[in-house]
Amino acid sequence: MSGTAQLPDGGIYIDDRDEASLVVSGRTGGWDIIHDKQTREWIRNGGTGPLSHDQADRLHARGLLTRSGATRGTSATVSLGDRILAPRHQMRRYPVLCVFHVHNWCNLSCTYCYTMADKVTRNRLGADLMIKAVDELVSGDLPTTCLEFHGGEPTMALHDIRRVVLHAEDVYRKAGKNVSFSIQTNGYRLSDECCSFLAEHDFSVRVSLDGDRATHNSARLNHAGRGSYDGVVAGITKLRSFGIVPHAVAVLHRANRDKITQMYDAMVDLGVASVRFLPVFKGGEMKDDSLWLNGREYFEAKWDLIEHILDRAARGLPTPILPNLVSGELGALTSFLRRYMCLRQPCGAGSNMVCIDDNGDLYPCEEMAGISEFRIGNLNHDTILDAFATPIVQHLRGRITAAIDGCRDCPWRQFCAGGCSHKSHTEFGDLRHGSEHCAYYQQIFRALLWLEHDRPGSWQVLGAQPGDLYASQEARQWH
Ligand SMILES: C[S@@+](CC[C@H](N)C(=O)[O-])C[C@H]1O[C@@H](n2cnc3c(N)ncnc32)[C@H](O)[C@@H]1O
Ligand code: SF4
Ligand code: SF4
Repeated sequence: MSGTAQLPDGGIYIDDRDEASLVVSGRTGGWDIIHDKQTREWIRNGGTGPLSHDQADRLHARGLLTRSGATRGTSATVSLGDRILAPRHQMRRYPVLCVFHVHNWCNLSCTYCYTMADKVTRNRLGADLMIKAVDELVSGDLPTTCLEFHGGEPTMALHDIRRVVLHAEDVYRKAGKNVSFSIQTNGYRLSDECCSFLAEHDFSVRVSLDGDRATHNSARLNHAGRGSYDGVVAGITKLRSFGIVPHAVAVLHRANRDKITQMYDAMVDLGVASVRFLPVFKGGEMKDDSLWLNGREYFEAKWDLIEHILDRAARGLPTPILPNLVSGELGALTSFLRRYMCLRQPCGAGSNMVCIDDNGDLYPCEEMAGISEFRIGNLNHDTILDAFATPIVQHLRGRITAAIDGCRDCPWRQFCAGGCSHKSHTEFGDLRHGSEHCAYYQQIFRALLWLEHDRPGSWQVLGAQPGDLYASQEARQWH
């Protein structure tokens, strides 16, 4: 090869097996599993020796070779002098997702709830303030916005939500722009009125459901201390009767992690569109470590589930996707473009997302609501644009793995993006710290890469979409 072709700077991770080598560049986010002996030798020798043109083309396409000073990579690839051929995220002034905490009360009292529903002063955001946010967003530079209603339990504020939705539809239509709606609800005893409203306005509905009856009822209690499972299943059934297929969201923690596969099966049996497992985080009622999963535990549970889904598919059973895995981990492995805001550097907090808490306080991310260090204003007297100009948001936008000691040299840094900003701060008291689930990321990406090598087609079963990086691989089943 010509002298201008070389491995990208910044460290190459090689995981050798007899027949193949997994090669990952932490600098570019490029990877490949290589069988060709000469290429494996070339990489092991640090990019010296013979390399065929075909192999050089392939390595370049996959971000593993710098040629004529140019390397493919993610938009977070830090340039050390060479040109980076990377998809760019357009930095816009306004967030694409605006989350409203419509109030902080709730008809349930879940043991791990981070919002401390019913435990603090009752706050209600109110339709007027939400409409103020909508009017600012529609006048901004975005063609599309998603308004998401959260709480507490948002379905208990249907009157406010209805006013906001009708107003938003009107002003977005007049502006020639698009608005969509989503809601995160506990689904408990949903009324006909609520389901018909959500159906009429084409809401994406996420229902919190911790799997099967016993597992769900161990944590998701009503105020009488009884399990809410039957009331939630009634809500899901009603949603379906109005033509809405809800997405399920389960909280995964130490007491239920070994039940993850039975939880998945129970949710699938209810006919949900997808199943999302959120590892429990600290906040609100969840102050201590008793339920918290460390990275290794989280990986083990997730891997059990992945194996289980592949097994179900082999038996011809339905396998609704895990949306976080599809847009998150698999998305990062199949493309240089980081579509998922939580695995991007910097993450979407304070750029893709804004959250308006029940007292009008503005936060860069829904999960940060109520944490005083992340408060960036109050909608009663600030605009979203003012809030996005605060030093906290600038600090968040500087959170990239190249600025984090423990991440700077990690081969997986382009894939995990340093993990969640909010959770690193909660766990370590410092934004310039890697993920609290570092061990999870270090295992999951490697395991997924070898999985597809050993059992081709697995990613497709799990719901992966072919992306720009993956498209350069030959002989893929879904092409
Ligand atoms: C706080 S609730 C608000 C919306 C609604 N009441 C509900 O339960 O879906 C939002 C989501 O966060 C989840 N959640 C609550 N506490 C959590 C925690 N400590 N860690 C992770 N997720 C949590 C809930 O299960 C729910 O899916
Ligand atoms: S998780 Fe949702 S349903 Fe449960 S107490 Fe919190 S706000 Fe209420
Ligand atoms: S703070 Fe965490 S949850 Fe919020 S956008 Fe960033 S990575 Fe996602």
